[in-house]
Amino acid sequence: MRNKQLTLLFGLFAVLSSLQHCQAAYPYYGTKIGALTRLHHGVSGDVYAVDSRTIFIKKFNYDGEAPAAYFYVGNTARPSNEGAARLRDERGGTTALTRRYRNKDITLSLPEGKTLRDIKWFSVWCDEFAVNFGDVSIPNNLDFPRPQKIGALRGVHGVSSDNIVIVDAQTLLVPNFSYDGEAPDAKFWVGRGQRPSPDGLRIPDENGKENPLRRYDRKTIVLTLPEDLTIFDVGHFGVWCEAFTVDFGHVRLPEGLNVPPSLKMLGISPQSKLNCEVLYDDLAFEVRWAVAGESIVVQLVAKLEANNYMSFGISPNKSISQMIGADAVVAWVDPETGNGFAQDYFLEGKAQCSGGRGACPDTKIQDKTNSIRLLNAAMVNGYSIVTYQRSLAATDSLDLPISIVDAESVVWAIGPLNDYKETSFHTYYNKHLHQIEFGRQPKWNCPLPEGSRPGSGSSSAEDEDNVPQTSSSSSTGGLGYPPAGRPNLEPEEEFYENRPQALQRQPPNRRPENSALAQRRPVPTPKPVNSNGAWDIPAIQCHEPEDGVFYAQMGPTGGKHGYPAITGHVGWGISWFINGLLIPELHVVRGKTYTFVVEGGNNPDIPAKYHPFYITDDPVGGFEHKREEEKKAVRIFAGVHRSRSGQVTPTGVGRLCNWTPDVDGPPADDYQSFGAYQRTLTLKCDPGEPGVITWKPDRSTPDTVYYHCFTHRYLGWKIHVHDSCDSAVAASERHEIRLPAAEPDYAGAEQFDAEPSIRHETKMESALLRLSRRAY
Ligand SMILES: *[C@@H]1O[C@H](CO)[C@@H](O)[C@H](O)[C@H]1NC(C)=O
Ligand SMILES: *[C@@H]1O[C@H](CO)[C@@H](O)[C@H](O)[C@H]1NC(C)=O
Repeated sequence: MRNKQLTLLFGLFAVLSSLQHCQAAYPYYGTKIGALTRLHHGVSGDVYAVDSRTIFIKKFNYDGEAPAAYFYVGNTARPSNEGAARLRDERGGTTALTRRYRNKDITLSLPEGKTLRDIKWFSVWCDEFAVNFGDVSIPNNLDFPRPQKIGALRGVHGVSSDNIVIVDAQTLLVPNFSYDGEAPDAKFWVGRGQRPSPDGLRIPDENGKENPLRRYDRKTIVLTLPEDLTIFDVGHFGVWCEAFTVDFGHVRLPEGLNVPPSLKMLGISPQSKLNCEVLYDDLAFEVRWAVAGESIVVQLVAKLEANNYMSFGISPNKSISQMIGADAVVAWVDPETGNGFAQDYFLEGKAQCSGGRGACPDTKIQDKTNSIRLLNAAMVNGYSIVTYQRSLAATDSLDLPISIVDAESVVWAIGPLNDYKETSFHTYYNKHLHQIEFGRQPKWNCPLPEGSRPGSGSSSAEDEDNVPQTSSSSSTGGLGYPPAGRPNLEPEEEFYENRPQALQRQPPNRRPENSALAQRRPVPTPKPVNSNGAWDIPAIQCHEPEDGVFYAQMGPTGGKHGYPAITGHVGWGISWFINGLLIPELHVVRGKTYTFVVEGGNNPDIPAKYHPFYITDDPVGGFEHKREEEKKAVRIFAGVHRSRSGQVTPTGVGRLCNWTPDVDGPPADDYQSFGAYQRTLTLKCDPGEPGVITWKPDRSTPDTVYYHCFTHRYLGWKIHVHDSCDSAVAASERHEIRLPAAEPDYAGAEQFDAEPSIRHETKMESALLRLSRRAY
């Protein structure tokens, strides 16, 4: 059942239609259980099993007017008070549902210890009156999604791993990954089909970087597929040398894997499932955690001086934060090797460890007493991030249990390591009582990591209507962010509510085009979706804009009606916006000079913030990553400088401006027209100057050329070049007609034989690990 039918589309129809491909892959919310019966109070919604313990309701409605309605599950044949268990609401609350829900997407967890196997129904139930407002029954044999183990990596250059776990549709856990680090340009690589090729896509490493891979020695890493890419879109994963197109080892990703959707696909930011508390703001010292069954996964983050440690522990006395007698973890990352450490300590005294007395690693006091399992460590932009796991219970006499019922008093410290890589004194430590309830409903009391918004998950599930917001108030990157004393790593952003305002801003007055730029230009009103499912985005005709000035900025691909439907090629999540429009076709005339004001990002160290604009006869783009022969085969008309030695450097480089969707709004797919979607986008700009390039097409310019990104493929679209404006009239050839894809016959499809799934915890664990790369 599930979406095997959808996933089987891939590969079979890859050639025919990347359009179908996209529609099929996304959105995916898990295994559909069914629609809620619409009995009372306007209850409706589609219910999905995300994993064994999690339910997702797409477009939940409820008028909020009944006095005492709750979410309930039970194991009786139909909803009743008997044997029923109340769920917490999507915010973790326990009170009756008194808010109105209108087309809300919500995620609910079953009570501790229960799985979907244990229940027969889910209902919006008024227990006072024993009335069912709407319910869905859970089939006995429900095949809910769960993490799946696939093969292991085994290849050249020492590439190896244990069996890889597909944690969810966008997350891979690669246990014990090794690679010798000797090749010049190795990348984690995914792609369609069964084996790697240059057509694949690199995926960022466990820290979100796209640099060539360094050496790994049995490291367990978590990789996240970028943007909307899911494992259903790709047929293999491995290590690939991009420069020399060599396969260093790969595994196939079986089709039809029944894995949970990622949190992102459910519109949940990982931190809405996680806890975080600030320990020491001046050094951005934070503790993040998730309780997972019998154990707890903890992530410590701080901006440490070289050779310093951070430590965090449980006080022996629940009512005071007492260092003596505490059970602590001392953690650090070696900046040179990138190796991380997390050591179990017992603080017998405040002195340096000597002869088993003082602040000592447990193992210096007694053999085999390390109860800490290091999961991951990374140094990201100068922040040390260490993730570890321990059991909640005390496993030996040097450990203290962690209660998930009562608050614990905690202790922390930061200081230098001595020559034995043990703690010496501490420079900073907590001077006041600090208590933490480890078992609480997840709460993120820290600044929000980059790339996330306040309340994109449960915390914002406001009752109000789901009207797409046009105000910038929801996009300011977090309440009180950055907090006092926190280094401001985020460039200041400017916010523009929509295009007309963006056009009103005064550009820097050092360029001759200045006056032209300041002019206000109307945005054409785009029409609804056409028969191909593509939004109708008007071409920019050759007589407009008169001054020949175009703004080129980044923005989203716009879901299934956007980039893929327009171009017939799958989009990777971002694309060029020209004058506020998603990849419009441009019409230009030979002999006229055009100016492109480029705001695609100018930081070559962050691939996501570096999109040089150029014009070429190559329909693919991404010149930088082409092979030498491929480079020779394409022409570039604007946006690069060629040195005498033949070195090509991009010149269409300027600050990043990004048309940013409202994360709380409906998905792009829900918009019938680009115009409606465009109004929900906010233009956000990094500080700095735009880049400017000029281009004068001439007789040698072909009739069709393309604007693209120098560093990434498939971000742009067509430019039609005409001899005169008159000849251009009605020349906007539209989308070609595509064959409708037939449904494949999947009756005989082989069910992938999954190995016993790993436990639910891994998801939390990986969410924490994923935060490492989102953090800064
Ligand atoms: C990695 O491999 C070692 C040795 O084979 C094994 O003891 C360890 O459990 C593995 N680690 C993980 C996370 O699988
Ligand atoms: C914990 O600390 C409080 C306050 O100092 C003290 O009254 C109490 O006796 C201590 N409890 C134990 C078990 O040491």
